[in-house]
Amino acid sequence: MTGMKTPRGFFKPLAIGAPTPYRELPARVERMIHFVPPHLEKVRAKLPEIAPTVDVILANLEDAIPADAKGAALAGLVAMSREVDFKALGVGFWTRINCLNSPWHLDEIATIVEKAGDKIDVIMVPKVEGPWDIFYMDQLLASLEAKHGVTRPILLHAILETAEGVMNVEAIAAASPRMQGISLGPADLAASRAMKTTRVGGGHPGYRVIEDPHADGSARVSVQQDLWHYTFAKMVDACAAHGIKPFYGPFGAIDDPVACEQQFRNAFLMGCAGAWSLHPSQIEIAKRVFSPDPAEVAFAKKILEAMPDGTGVAMIDGKMQDDATWKQAKVMVDCARQIAG
Ligand code: GLV
Ligand code: MG
Repeated sequence: MTGMKTPRGFFKPLAIGAPTPYRELPARVERMIHFVPPHLEKVRAKLPEIAPTVDVILANLEDAIPADAKGAALAGLVAMSREVDFKALGVGFWTRINCLNSPWHLDEIATIVEKAGDKIDVIMVPKVEGPWDIFYMDQLLASLEAKHGVTRPILLHAILETAEGVMNVEAIAAASPRMQGISLGPADLAASRAMKTTRVGGGHPGYRVIEDPHADGSARVSVQQDLWHYTFAKMVDACAAHGIKPFYGPFGAIDDPVACEQQFRNAFLMGCAGAWSLHPSQIEIAKRVFSPDPAEVAFAKKILEAMPDGTGVAMIDGKMQDDATWKQAKVMVDCARQIAG
C-alpha cells in the first residue's frame, strides 16, 4: 500500500513547525484524551471545572453510550461546543463517532460538521479496518466542510481494535493528510482476536514466561509478560513512519492506578504521545507519565550542549554520546519544551 495515491478531498497540508518526529500537525500536547458522556447534563455541567485540567476533551458517542441515548449524546456534543470555549482554554475538542457500519455515524458526521465544524479538532473513528475507512471519512468531511464553509480541516484519529486493522495499520496511518494519530483499542481487539480475557487493557496474571526446571529442584520463577507489546510496536512504527502520533487507549481498571501507570509508562517509553482517561483519577496519571522526567530532560540538555551541531562523540557521566543519542535527546527536550508551552 505504501506509495499509493491517497484521496485528499480539499485538504491542504498544514504548516511545518511541529517538533520531530511528527509531521506538519498542529503542535499540541495531547497527554490524555479525557472521555465524557455528552448526554449526561450533570457531566456537562462539570466541564468548565474539568476542561482546564486536561489536554483534550472527547465527547464519546460510541461504546458506553446506550443505543437509546445516541441522539441525546449527539445533541450534548453540540451543546458542549457552545457551552465551553475549548480554544480559549487551549484544550483540544474531539469526538468518537459510532462505527462506519452503524445506523448512527452518518447523522453524527453531518451534524458535527454543520453545528460544531469550526469547534471540533479531531474525529476519532472506531474499528478502522483498512485505509478505505479513512478514504471514506476524508471525502465525506471534504464535502461537508465545503457545504458548511468550514475552512480548518477536521483531523482523523483511528482506533486500532480489530485484527484486520492491525494487519493494515501502515496503510491506515498513510491514508490521508488528515490523519492525526492512532490509538490502541485493547478491549475490542481482544474480542476480535478471540483472546480469553475480560478486561479493558493492561496485563493478565496468566500471560507469563516460566524458567526451565532448576537442577537443584528450587522454585522456578515466572514473569508476567506484556500482552500488547507486538501491537504497540507495530502501531508505533506505522505512526512514526507516517509522521502521526501513536496513543495507548483505555485502561478499564479504575481501581488499579498502579497498573494504569505502568501501562501508560510502557506506552510512553515505546513512543506514544498519550492515552485515554476514562475517569478523573486517570488525568493526573497520564499527565505525570506522558511528561518526560525532569532528570532525564536535564541529562538530554547536557547531550545537546556537548554536541552543538549534533555530530561527533562525547562522554557524559560515563555514557558515550553520538549523533544517535543527540537525536534521542532532542526528542526528549522538544517534548518537555512543548509541554512547558
Ligand atoms: C476501545 O474502544 C477498546 O475497544 O478498547
Ligand atoms: Mg472499542
